[in-house]
Amino acid sequence: MKGVVLAGGLGTRLYPLTKVTNKHLLPVYNKPMIFYPIETLVKAGITDIMVVTGGPHSGHFLSILKNGEELGIKHLEYAYQEKEGGIADALSLAREFAEGDSVTVILGDNTSDADIAESVRNFKEGALIFLKEVSDPERFGIATFDPADPSKIIKITEKPQNPDSKMAVTGVYIYDKQVFDFIDQINPSGRGELEITDVNNKYVEKGQLKWSELKGYWWDAGTFDTLLQANNYWAKKAKTK
Ligand code: DAU
Repeated sequence: MKGVVLAGGLGTRLYPLTKVTNKHLLPVYNKPMIFYPIETLVKAGITDIMVVTGGPHSGHFLSILKNGEELGIKHLEYAYQEKEGGIADALSLAREFAEGDSVTVILGDNTSDADIAESVRNFKEGALIFLKEVSDPERFGIATFDPADPSKIIKITEKPQNPDSKMAVTGVYIYDKQVFDFIDQINPSGRGELEITDVNNKYVEKGQLKWSELKGYWWDAGTFDTLLQANNYWAKKAKTK
């Protein structure tokens, strides 16, 4: 199993902070944001990792991560995403790196203390996504469940205006090698991006999308409010250890 952290994009929702560095290097309490997804991967035993980044401050990642050894990474590669082409576009850059292996993908602005080691160990084929109940489903990819079998997802809708559930797709995904073929088959969405939700729906169509509830704290830190919440959570956790 290989690991991919997606840290491209311009982070415009966090202007002016992201005018001087990449969003994923902003502090979340005592560490740069990107340390959290990397630590989630390393704790799950994934030490062969690619970081996909982009934008004007991508060089800053090298100064902080170097060869990744300090974080427990055995092999670290970087890829550069030319444009903000979407999450699936960023993931497509990991095709050669994956070498036909399965990949655990984490969005670089997601912080979580969930332990995904068992899911990684038991993963065989298809896709596994992790869901979490949220109070603001309009901000996320949202699962629709089969009324006849509520354990089965029949579709995922990206940022729905009238959500079918409150179960959000978190930015933690495990895919088999088909993921790169599915990315080739999708088209840019209305906002001009290759959406990871469309890739997940390809797995739904093939009856190969499984899900599990993400146990523990999870939050994306991509807006001022969620960045503040993530800072507060991790500060409190560090002080109550
Ligand atoms: O946080 C979970 C949500 O993340 C999911 O529920 C949604 O289904 C998924 O689309 C995503 O939604 P966001 O609107 O939060 O995605 P955002 O555009 O903020 O991108 C999240 C991360 O993905 C970002 O921190 C870096 C990476 N990314 C994003 C884009 C658009 C890239 O590496 N390249 C990109 O072009």
